[in-house]
Formats: sequence, structure tokens, C-alpha cells
Amino acid sequence: MPDTFENYVNGDWREASSRQTFENRNPAAPSDLIGHFPDSGPADIDEAAEAAQNALSDWSRTPAPSRGKILRVAGDLLAERKEDIAQSMTREMGKPFFETKGDVQEAIDTAYYAASETRRLFGTTVPSELPDKMNMAIRRPLGVCGIITAWNFPVAVPSWKIFPALAAGNTILFKPSEDAPHSGLRFVQTLIDAGIPDGVINVVHGADEAGRALVEHPKVDAIGFTGSYEVGTSIAETCGRLNKPVSLEMGGKNPMIVMDDADLDLALEGAIWGAFGTTGQRCTATSRLICHEEIHDQFVDMIRDEAETLVLGDGNDEGTDVGPLINQAAAEKVAHYVEVGEEEGATLEMGGSPTTVEGLDGHFFEPTLFTDVTPSMTIAQEEIFGPVLSVFKVSSYEEAIDVANNTKFGLSSSIYTEDVQKSFRAMRDLEAGITYVNGPTIGAEAHMPFGGVKGTGNGTRDGGYAAFEFWTEHKTIYIDYSGQLQKAQMDSVED
Ligand code: UN1
Repeated sequence: MPDTFENYVNGDWREASSRQTFENRNPAAPSDLIGHFPDSGPADIDEAAEAAQNALSDWSRTPAPSRGKILRVAGDLLAERKEDIAQSMTREMGKPFFETKGDVQEAIDTAYYAASETRRLFGTTVPSELPDKMNMAIRRPLGVCGIITAWNFPVAVPSWKIFPALAAGNTILFKPSEDAPHSGLRFVQTLIDAGIPDGVINVVHGADEAGRALVEHPKVDAIGFTGSYEVGTSIAETCGRLNKPVSLEMGGKNPMIVMDDADLDLALEGAIWGAFGTTGQRCTATSRLICHEEIHDQFVDMIRDEAETLVLGDGNDEGTDVGPLINQAAAEKVAHYVEVGEEEGATLEMGGSPTTVEGLDGHFFEPTLFTDVTPSMTIAQEEIFGPVLSVFKVSSYEEAIDVANNTKFGLSSSIYTEDVQKSFRAMRDLEAGITYVNGPTIGAEAHMPFGGVKGTGNGTRDGGYAAFEFWTEHKTIYIDYSGQLQKAQMDSVED
């Protein structure tokens, strides 16, 4: 019997007011029904926003280190439940167990980091320009924060936003992806079990209708979003109209440059992990490989040989390297891009088709490699979100950088070289929020800023202290203890 799951609002479990539900299935074996989840609408968002707003006053006035204590316990519970959550995450969204354990670990690291930050939450104190007067700026929460996240890191990415937002004294209305609602709930359950007060975190499941209602709700003060470019830009438009702070982390078209002096064995490992890990379904996936002409042919052969050894399967089976795509629509989208790539003149070196794994009816897709890709091609520009690696041949460092930067996105980037000068130049020249030297485009650490430039985001960052910069605002305070009216700029100017 599949389970039926509910929304979590004001400390209670509730079905959607419409009583509608949607199904959630295992992408490796869609006949495996995980459960039914509430297909929520504006009325459910309304209740949750109200609950979050009511909880705000007490939570924001709770001493920050006490908030931190709850986060630390949530981190401990995630650690205790790591294998169990990872296993159910793999069943829900397909990536292999070793990857889902990493996903949970990222949330554990973020919990401990955010908890520790509650003993700092630094503001600034500076001298006043007037005598007997003190100036300071403290950090205040934004209020009720709406969080909308994707399914590919269904615990890590919500944790990047929710833990720092909570640490800073905000309350939360969280809509997990409809493709990974169960993992979202397992994450929230650790906060519930850690003793988070009722109303401080609320979960409302659903799809576009629930998402839109959340973004537009007048009691939701700020939005944190990770997902597609299309949805993110439409959220940004709404938030612009409503004057709501919004943090956006949208896609990538992340380049890996391999120079002629690179350690090719090292670069090979990086390229395979970067391109085909999580079946290429990461915003940081290595989707463009920019090879110096001196090593191009050799490196393409190496990639092909290595990619052919990858084992596709159920991520909970030992030995699986690559899981399925998340759903049928994703499989169709990837197949479409392969078709367009061939039409536009790229050479299909390997893969390119949906495939089957014995005993499973999932959405598997062959690791796919294109060569002869040029920057004007669709597969060079659009995020495919699948196991497709496009290879470019270049003749110099300068050309490599030009190709790398020729995209509307700017999330992650990488260069493999043994030349210290080129590596430092690349750190400067690559237009991306993240640059790896001698590592693939994936591998974010919880205490570092995470996000991108250009079409990837809007200048905000998840991760580390940067997240606190978004989830708080400054409150500037002047304390005049002179006992007189002192006029700034007038009394303080020395003529
Ligand atoms: C994402 O795909 O939204 O560094 C995040 C990485 C991962 C996070 C990816 N830890 O690639």
C-alpha cells in the first residue's frame, strides 16, 4: 500500500483543502509508487503563510544561539538518519546511493555551519561623526520566507536556504519539488524532531499553482528559488512587481577547459564525474568540454572508453554508476536536444538514445558525447540537464576562454592545466560564480558562497556567510547620548 503524505502547517499534518493529490514514483522503476502527496492550492498556501507570520514574532525574538541549538540537533538527526534518508532519496529521484549520502552530508554540514553562525550574525559598529553618539547596524530577519527548490538535491539545496534563514530568525513556507516531495519531508522531519516551534517551518506540497500562490502571497516577505531559468525569471518578474527580495539560482552551461599541458588522467576522472554524475542533472554539471587541439583527439578517445564502462541502473543497487533521468518528460527533452545537435552538425560520438536496464522500467538514457560542437549550436547554449557532454576544439587559452564565456549562464567553470599562470588567468577570466582549478565543475562546500553570474542568478548566493547576507537585512541604529539635538552633516562639518 503506498503511503499518503500531508502538508505540515502550524505543527499539524493536513491534506490539501481540495483533497487533491499527486503521485510520486521511483524514476528507476516507475511501477514503484512511493506515495500520494497533497496537490495544494492558494487556500493551503494562505493557511501556511498565516501560520508562518504568527510564529515570526516569537521565533525572531528567540536568542539566536537557542535557534542554533535546534539546528544543531537537526544536523545530529540528519547524521543519524543519513543512510536511511539517502536510500529513500535514491528511490525517489534516482541518483546513486553514494551520491544521495553526499546530499544528506551537505545538509549536515550546513546545519552545523548555520548553527555556529548564530553566535556571530555580525553587524557593524562604527564611530559617529558627532560626539557622544554611537552608530551600529544589526542584522534583522526578512520575515516569512518562501522556499521553492528543485528535485536534484532535494535535501542539500533546501538546507542551504532553510537553515541560514531559520538561524537568522525568519520563519519558513517551503514547497519542495513535486518530483522529490518525500525527501523534502524527511528533511523537515529532522527539524520537527529537533523541537522547532509550531509554525516556524511549514511545508506545502504541490506544483505550479501552489508555487505561484506562494510567490504572490502578501504575507510571504522574501523568496528563495533554485530551479529552471524559465521559472526563475518569471518569479523574479513577480517579485519585482511586488517589491519582494528574491534569491535565484538557475541553470548553468558549465565549461571545463582542458589545456595541452593538463594531467589527462586527472581531467578524465573529473570530466566523467562532472558530466555524468547525477545523470548530468545538476545545475553545476560539466556540460561543455573545451579541449586544446593538441590533446583533443586523445582525450575524446579516453572519455569515450571510460564512459562506455559506466553502469546504468537502480541507484540503490551496488555497482550502479549512473541512475535514470527523473521522468519521461526529461527523457524526451534530452532526446530532443540530441536530435537538434545532430541536425545542427555536431558529431554524435557515443550514446544519444534512451536505453533500458534489465528488470527496470525507468527513464534511462545513454551517456552521450558530441564532438565538433561550435558555440552557436543549441546544444552549446541551452541547459540540457541530462548526460550529454559537448566537446569543443580550440587552439589557444584565449579561444578557450572565449568559448567558455559564450553563454548566457555563469554558474560554474573549470580549467585543467599544470601552468600556474594560466590557472590564475582563468580564475580571473572565466565569467562564472565558481571556478575550479584541476577539478570538475561540481563539488560545492557548505561554507562557501554558491551561485552564479549572468543568467544564472540575480547576484545573491547560497552557502556560507553569503546566505546570511540574503536572509537578513540591516537595521541601522544611532544612539545619541549627548543630551542635545546634534545635526549630522551640519554640526559635524568642520569648515
Ligand atoms: C545543484 O545542482 O542545484 O557542487 C546544486 C555541486 C553540488 C550542488 C549542486 N554539491 O555540484
